[in-house]
Amino acid sequence: MSQAEDHTGTRRDFLYYATAGAGAVAGGAAVWTLVDQMNPSADVQALSSIFVDISGVETGTQLTVKWRGKPVFIRRRTAEEIEAARAVDVSELVDADARNANGTAGAPATDENRSMDEAGEWLVMMGVCTHLGCVPLGDGAGDFGGWFCPCHGSHYDTSGRIRRGPAPENLPVPTAAFTDETTIKLG
Ligand code: FES
Repeated sequence: MSQAEDHTGTRRDFLYYATAGAGAVAGGAAVWTLVDQMNPSADVQALSSIFVDISGVETGTQLTVKWRGKPVFIRRRTAEEIEAARAVDVSELVDADARNANGTAGAPATDENRSMDEAGEWLVMMGVCTHLGCVPLGDGAGDFGGWFCPCHGSHYDTSGRIRRGPAPENLPVPTAAFTDETTIKLG
């Protein structure tokens, strides 16, 4: 159990950011074990897909995994988060593109186009601020209840869409798919 997990979610996310350069992963011990056991060489790991066990992710919490050298947020959203994300009028958004790698690039940035499943329970995004690349804080951070990047004050909503601050684009949605009920494949 890492020191980071003794802290609140916000603190944990900040520690992840602070230690990311050292290759540390906070908040995903089970996943880290899975990836570590595969023990691929660095060049293979850089290109490979990974399988993430999400069975331990409770509603209202987020798992952060490292994939291709970058953090990926896997959040199991509450009904309130989903409702807030889906109530947004897309015409109000700073970035109207879904930023979705699953074949809907260029599609409107509706929450339906960004979330993994029809009900919107699962949201998977790159945890990299589109301003200058910091790792945003999660667990309801910021003025829109989603993520907040403290580097220069970018606020993302519960769908990871930029709503206020200098970041120009929504948090990108990577190629991701369920391989069974409790496993998500990235890449
Ligand atoms: S890097 Fe996130 S606001 Fe500047």
